[in-house]
Amino acid sequence: MSDQVFIFDTTLRDGEQALAASLSLKEKIQVALALEELRVDVMEVGFPISSPGDFESVQKIASTIKNSTVCGLARSLEKDIDAAYEALKVSDNYRIHCFLATSDIHVKDKLHTDFNHVVEMATKAVKYARNKAGDVEFSCEDAGRTPIDNLCRIVEAVIAAGATTVNIPDTVGYTLPTEYGNIIKSLYDRVPNIDKARISVHTHNDLGMASALAMTAVMNGARQIECTVNGIGERAGNCSLEEVVMAIKTRSRLLDLHTNVECKQIAKTSQLVSQICNMPVPPNKAIVGSNAFSHSSGIHQDGVLKNKDTYEIVTPEQVGFNTNNMNLTARSGRHIIKHRLEAMGYKEDSYNLDDVYTRFKELADIKGQVFDYDLEALLFFSQLTEEPEQFKIEYLTVLSGGKNVLPTASMKLNIGGNIVTDSCVGNGPVDAVYQCIYRLTGYNITLQKYEIKSKGEGKDALGQVDIIANYKGKNFHGMGLTTDIIQSSAAAMIHACNSIYRAELVEQKKNSMQNPASNENK
Ligand code: KIV
Ligand code: ZN
Repeated sequence: MSDQVFIFDTTLRDGEQALAASLSLKEKIQVALALEELRVDVMEVGFPISSPGDFESVQKIASTIKNSTVCGLARSLEKDIDAAYEALKVSDNYRIHCFLATSDIHVKDKLHTDFNHVVEMATKAVKYARNKAGDVEFSCEDAGRTPIDNLCRIVEAVIAAGATTVNIPDTVGYTLPTEYGNIIKSLYDRVPNIDKARISVHTHNDLGMASALAMTAVMNGARQIECTVNGIGERAGNCSLEEVVMAIKTRSRLLDLHTNVECKQIAKTSQLVSQICNMPVPPNKAIVGSNAFSHSSGIHQDGVLKNKDTYEIVTPEQVGFNTNNMNLTARSGRHIIKHRLEAMGYKEDSYNLDDVYTRFKELADIKGQVFDYDLEALLFFSQLTEEPEQFKIEYLTVLSGGKNVLPTASMKLNIGGNIVTDSCVGNGPVDAVYQCIYRLTGYNITLQKYEIKSKGEGKDALGQVDIIANYKGKNFHGMGLTTDIIQSSAAAMIHACNSIYRAELVEQKKNSMQNPASNENK
């Protein structure tokens, strides 16, 4: 039997921390559930001490996920480890992940200390965490630039202190694959207790080599890869989950390795993460890009027609992309919708068929034919709006403008059950709508980004609007998807307002827990 490489997904931690706007609790749970279906071994879902929102989402995910280990990040400080433990302890299967920088530049210029102190702090943190968790990972931040003698010393010390996994990150994506592979090999050659822990790798894509680095590391003995869906993450991103998983699968005979990932879930998870994180997948992205399985040149097309293996080392079906010939129209029944969603990798209990079917019928009436990508967008939108909403548009009409006419919007908004109305003028129709929303919600929002794209193909495509709304210094993502771009623009702003409202509730809850007396006095 080949050796297993454990897949540690950090989309919701390293990936999320690089987004323009934080994800809402509901969005994080959606991603976590998709990662569970993808069968990742470990999912790192946040940094509990960093904010009340992160704490709450780690706790909620820890109580929801049953089939993957849920992990929270902590600096090598007792207060961080306490916060991670408090957030994770609801789970039967959790990991505390402590980290501390080990390279000369980080130790001297960032931590202002010396390496002896780093070893002392790291071992203390690991021992402390082991009192709270049977599963403790320690990461030597910037290990790629750490002198090898120091790296061997700290790896030995943290294993002796009880670390069950030791991670060797190339935090800045600096090493070359052979160099990084040699670091892993040296650890196996020189650290006497190395067999007592799993060695993990965590690579960044600054020089475009994150996946190559991870693969060289597993070829030298590492047995956990830390990665993110679509490779999202700090700066140029992290190692892409889909790339390393498919590299291991495609070259399993040579490598004698396997992962437990359910590869047919890859396409669906990639699309979900791209949509929720507002991070488009480049068309030429390996495995999940829209061109990854297209053959353009005549010679290639001829070869593929004769035998697919001539130019295709991975098939679209292997990663869950479907080639479907069934036409979905207003006459299609619920059964066929369920069947299509099943074929696309969506289990029946992960969505509300009634709601998706109602949305499908509405769309089919407008568009005629509904395609898989429309269905996916409807599903995504239906899941997104399942969360209780404080703000709902009851009515919206817009006068677009023209010569001597001011663009004007009139809106009726349901705010927690109360109906309020207003009309506003703006620089254009979208601005008029946004002025109405700002006035009716009372939120003083700065629109940081407004993006419109077509979802689907041709003149029947849906209009997707993504915005970044800044409120009190924090960014919130909003998304709207309808056949009308003004309605999509309004929906995107309302989506952001609902996230702002929920974030304010979390903040208020935290303040009242920290300060119960001052609340009583109010
Ligand atoms: O890149 C890095 O070093 C990290 C650590 C916290 C594991 O993300
Ligand atoms: Zn990282």
